[in-house]
Amino acid sequence: MKINPVRGTHDLFGKDIKKFNKIISDVKDIAYQFGFNELVTPIFESTALFKKPLGEQSDVVLKEMYTFKDRNDDEITLRPEYTTPMIRAAISNGLLNNLPVKFFGTGQMFRRERPQKGRYRQFNQINFENFGSNDSFADVEIINLANLLIKKILPNKKIKLHINSLGTRENLINYKKTLSHYFNQNKNFLSSESKDKIQLNPLRILDSKNIEDKEVIDKAPVLIDFLSKENLNEYEEIKKCLNDLDITVYENTSLVRGLDYYCNTVFEFKTNEIGSQDTLIGGGRYDGLIEVLGGKDIPGVGWAGGIERMMLLMDDVQLQNQSIHLAILNQNYKSHAFKIYDFLIKNNLSVFWNYKYNLKKSLSTANEQKAKFIVIIGEDENINNNYTVKNLLNGEQKIKDLSNIMEFIK
Ligand code: HAM
Repeated sequence: MKINPVRGTHDLFGKDIKKFNKIISDVKDIAYQFGFNELVTPIFESTALFKKPLGEQSDVVLKEMYTFKDRNDDEITLRPEYTTPMIRAAISNGLLNNLPVKFFGTGQMFRRERPQKGRYRQFNQINFENFGSNDSFADVEIINLANLLIKKILPNKKIKLHINSLGTRENLINYKKTLSHYFNQNKNFLSSESKDKIQLNPLRILDSKNIEDKEVIDKAPVLIDFLSKENLNEYEEIKKCLNDLDITVYENTSLVRGLDYYCNTVFEFKTNEIGSQDTLIGGGRYDGLIEVLGGKDIPGVGWAGGIERMMLLMDDVQLQNQSIHLAILNQNYKSHAFKIYDFLIKNNLSVFWNYKYNLKKSLSTANEQKAKFIVIIGEDENINNNYTVKNLLNGEQKIKDLSNIMEFIK
């Protein structure tokens, strides 16, 4: 019986797992450098955690969540994103006492979207959140961190930072009303998909990819006109600081993001090299969300990045295999081989026993796996109680015994 992977899921191995691990290691390095601590949350949560905060009318809540009832009839959802679980965990564990607090996490998310290149049903996200500060430098810091990380993972790739300000929650409510009114008046020129969003989610029409909608969208009222002077000043300050940090920003007035919890700054890092799923990182401010989830009324800002999308753009990771391969030329020399095997393991080195008992095959495995050394154990070595060690990088070969092999290998 052959069982295939579930649609929209994938296994990680070979070149991909090397890329994946390099990303995770770069994430951890930069997180600690910027003072973010890791927070790991469960893969499933109560459904209520996601429904209201993400917006009952957002695509994620309407069609994409993996939700089920467990044996006690509790409604459970596989996490579709990491911000709300992180807030839940910070509240549950009393982690919001000394503010600000900065957390990061990586892990699998689940969304039942139509799979295509760069879009999967199980995928991995990197997530950075800063809870408790409405200082505009918190926005700058988190965008700077994203920019440095993306440069580290994808040097020489052209990635553009799009930015917008949504203003406060009140601004946004007024703007939504005006927008619904405008779209209603121009209903006949909109696609049927956009028509359905006029009342409940008019903001989402702005980032519709439907060409039919383009003309109406181009003439729609713009959010920036609804921002207060204070909002605008703050937005200007953020852009200026980013400029001072040599980060080029592209102001995108139709950037609204797909989840309901945002206000003020929103941003995305985009590429045009991987097709339609072109957002590598997306985030923004979510003042008010922590209170909605039962915490104090404190602000927050953060972002999430898609690891698989970054991997699509990433060059192969060249890793020298640190293991030492053993070429045992005949099963009869096993016990002599065992001495070096045990010695190397106890010296914290990594050893690869290939079960081949053949020089040519052993050499070819060692070369394939890019091993640095091979230890040859044949008749002479067995008789003389020593080992032939070859450095596969420079071809240098020496006869050694347990007393002096370490200096050659190190
Ligand atoms: P999001 O825009 O829904 O935001 O997702 C963030 C990133 O996750 C996307 O830009 C993309 O790279 C990746 N991603 C999303 N869906 C998929 C998928 N189906 N397959 C592969 N990659 C995907 C959030 O999740 C927010 N929680 C971000 C945030 C954090 N805002 C504030 N803090």
